[in-house]
Amino acid sequence: MSSAVVSTPPLAQRLRGVAGSPVRDLLALLDRPEVISFAGGLPAPELFDLAGLRTAFDAVLSTDAGRRHLQYAPTEGNRDLRTLVAARMTAAGLGTTAEDLLVTTGSQQALTLIATALLDPGAVVAVEEPTYLAALQTFALAGARVVPVRSDDDGIDPAALADVLVRERPTLVYLVPTFANPTGRTLPVERRAAVAELAARHGVWVVEDDPYGELRYRGAAVPPLAAQPGAEDRVLHLGSFSKVAAPGLRLGWLRAPAGLMRALTVAKQAADLHTSTIDQAAAAAYLAAVDLDGHVRGLCDAYRERRDAMVGALPGVLPAGSTWSDPDGGMFVWVRLPGDVDTTELLRTALAHDVAFVPGAPFFAGTPDRATLRLSFTTNAPDRIAEGMARLGRALR
Ligand SMILES: Cc1ncc(COP(=O)(O)O)c(C=O)c1O
Repeated sequence: MSSAVVSTPPLAQRLRGVAGSPVRDLLALLDRPEVISFAGGLPAPELFDLAGLRTAFDAVLSTDAGRRHLQYAPTEGNRDLRTLVAARMTAAGLGTTAEDLLVTTGSQQALTLIATALLDPGAVVAVEEPTYLAALQTFALAGARVVPVRSDDDGIDPAALADVLVRERPTLVYLVPTFANPTGRTLPVERRAAVAELAARHGVWVVEDDPYGELRYRGAAVPPLAAQPGAEDRVLHLGSFSKVAAPGLRLGWLRAPAGLMRALTVAKQAADLHTSTIDQAAAAAYLAAVDLDGHVRGLCDAYRERRDAMVGALPGVLPAGSTWSDPDGGMFVWVRLPGDVDTTELLRTALAHDVAFVPGAPFFAGTPDRATLRLSFTTNAPDRIAEGMARLGRALR
């Protein structure tokens, strides 16, 4: 055997410049019971419908017919599940059939499939600013160039988007129009109509990533971007069970224009053949058996209280000159501190006080605003939120 040291081939170029998710890296550091974390965007585990999900898994595995739910299955997904999801989407104002849907392994996989099917290296993706970190990672891994579009408290600015469409000629526009991660912002219906009209006029794809839309705590629902005139053959709409049932199911869905379904299905064949058969079957049994809307109403009641506990505490905690969002739904409050602050530095101080948040910088595709941070209010009960906010106040002093 030769004793010569042979170097291994380098990592793929596409990994260059793609950082690990500081949020996920951070979650590892927070694994101390004494830390009150407002960092992770996690649903409250005590609100998972453990009994309903156990009954659903039992139902599909308790008879001999259950064997087929342990077998390989079609890439598009479980037909009963697609039919049930389509019915819920139609009831929510977005007419959908089972054929319009591809079941995905979480909506995160839908982002990867979209990148595989639609983005060549060097393609341009336009995003609201700031935006969901793991979407930025996915587009970077695809070799795309991400261009931020000016956004305000109402989400992306259609006039700024119109400029970017002309100047940068993006292939795709990525948006979280309802209760966005990280800002909690919601795009008003007039802006949705304007975005759909721009997409149709410029021949660009739009991704409407919507894992939070059902978690509304006040006000009336805003119609989906995918339901706007002109959106039919332009908008890809992503949904997920993660925030309304449980993220561990890793079940999402992709509603795509008919002309894209084949390409997305091929991308999924190469990715994982299909999403877990048994999990899909259990989710279909769960949807058929339980009142999911009722369950979501219960989540909304609990999360509303938690949002109010957090937003109510902020004026007494943050320094004068701070600004923050008061979201109508979702999971996040977005904060901006006054002066020349770097919240990544501040996080060390916060952790010394046993409280955590996510610094805002990684959510920016362009120049980061280092004075921003994200707080999640869903994981902690109101009394823990009060204690965590008091610790944050001490850390900020
Ligand atoms: C905007 C956004 N899109 C997608 C996802 C991924 O969700 P899933 O669990 O469905 O993969 C998240 C998760 O936090 C998210 O915030």
